[in-house]
Amino acid sequence: ILPKPWDGRFTETTHHLVESFTASVNFDQRLYQYDIMGSIAHARMLAQVGVLTTVECQQIIDGLTAIQQEITQGDFNWSVALEDVHMNIETRLTQTIGTIGKKLHTGRSRNDQIATDIRLYLRHEIDLINHELTQFLTHLATIAEREVETIMPGFTHLQSAQPITFGHHLLAWCEMLLRDKARLQDCRKRVNSLPLGAAALAGTSYPIDRHYTAQLLGFDTIAENSLDAVSDRDFAIEFTAVAAIIMMHLSRFSEELILWSSTQFNFVELSDAFCTGSSIMPQKKNPDVPELVRGKTGRVYGHLMSLLTLMKGQPLAYNKDNQEDKEPLFDTVDTLKNCLQIYADMILTLKVKPEAMRAAAYRGFTTATDLADYLVRKGITFRDAHQIVGQVVRYCIENNGELDKLSLEVLQRFSPQIEPDVYSTLTLEGSIAARNHIGGTAPVQVRAAIQRLRTQL
Ligand code: ARG
Repeated sequence: ILPKPWDGRFTETTHHLVESFTASVNFDQRLYQYDIMGSIAHARMLAQVGVLTTVECQQIIDGLTAIQQEITQGDFNWSVALEDVHMNIETRLTQTIGTIGKKLHTGRSRNDQIATDIRLYLRHEIDLINHELTQFLTHLATIAEREVETIMPGFTHLQSAQPITFGHHLLAWCEMLLRDKARLQDCRKRVNSLPLGAAALAGTSYPIDRHYTAQLLGFDTIAENSLDAVSDRDFAIEFTAVAAIIMMHLSRFSEELILWSSTQFNFVELSDAFCTGSSIMPQKKNPDVPELVRGKTGRVYGHLMSLLTLMKGQPLAYNKDNQEDKEPLFDTVDTLKNCLQIYADMILTLKVKPEAMRAAAYRGFTTATDLADYLVRKGITFRDAHQIVGQVVRYCIENNGELDKLSLEVLQRFSPQIEPDVYSTLTLEGSIAARNHIGGTAPVQVRAAIQRLRTQL
């Protein structure tokens, strides 16, 4: 049996169930490179302030570097008896470089160590996720530009409302993702703060230089309070909240893609490469990828709730409860990255069906608002115009007509102000071109919006 690094005051051995129950090494080993990075910085700082000699420091760094290589190559023997990534690496260090290895933990605790590891890990992952978001946005901008004149119905209540362009619709997605990027950057500021130096909870009696450690590890700030430093997991909750919002957005996109690729809508077709078939129905092509993204949103929401609940009852400072932060956090990162990557690729292969979109945009009297606006331009108040057009629509429903197909004589029965120039405002193109202001669906505005978007990427 391996001796525990903390067993000096113990007289009995750990119950066999407790050993695996308390161990985190099976999941926290993925933090190994951050753990080693943090340990190297800590050793350097200890040498800088004279707690370690330069020779000792170098031996420790060499030993840790060799261990890093062992782990990367898959030659490292992880031991559940050694509980977590920290004690596995530290024990191995002492095995390989001898007694000097036992000096590494001077002025440090696993409590500030793990807090540092997760922050280094999360900072790295945030940068990767930010890159994925940018990639996805770039692809969306490409498709939006291509579809700047493609007419589709815009919906409210999932009822046809007014004609828009598909490009404009895609830019709505872009806006959501841009805000997500901003949220992520904001969250990164609070992630990038150094806990190391807090030791177990109260700080340490060695003359440490936390600024130096922060500088070595690229932290922008230093956690001000040692109790807070070891027990704060807000940063992980905040990240997971940002992730939950991103997943919520992806889930909405998914819902639209699923609806639009149905036989009933037939607006788009996902590439075969992103669909699967049915084991019984030979004709089926199912939008599994968006469906799974929609489904995985649930697990990320769950992780957010897990982390919030994990923290709500904890007194200061560190409690072992915190070990439960890792699996939800890791799974949030993995899920989010996978979903963003697959979405970025999938969206480029999306086949658009402009005829079907256009036909759908035409159905449902979608230019009724344009007719009301036309009457306003002829001097009628908007409320009265609304009433008049409502009656025109009712007439169309009862007589199987369409707004732009009614004769001038019929239209004038509803309002004598209607003149032959009405017909240009009743076309889909006319309706779209009329919405010519920042944020509107007119192609000229959408093109300008795409240019502005690109400057933000
Ligand atoms: N594995 C622990 C965690 O994930 C590391 C810190 C352990 N600290 C302690 N005092 N037991 O939180």
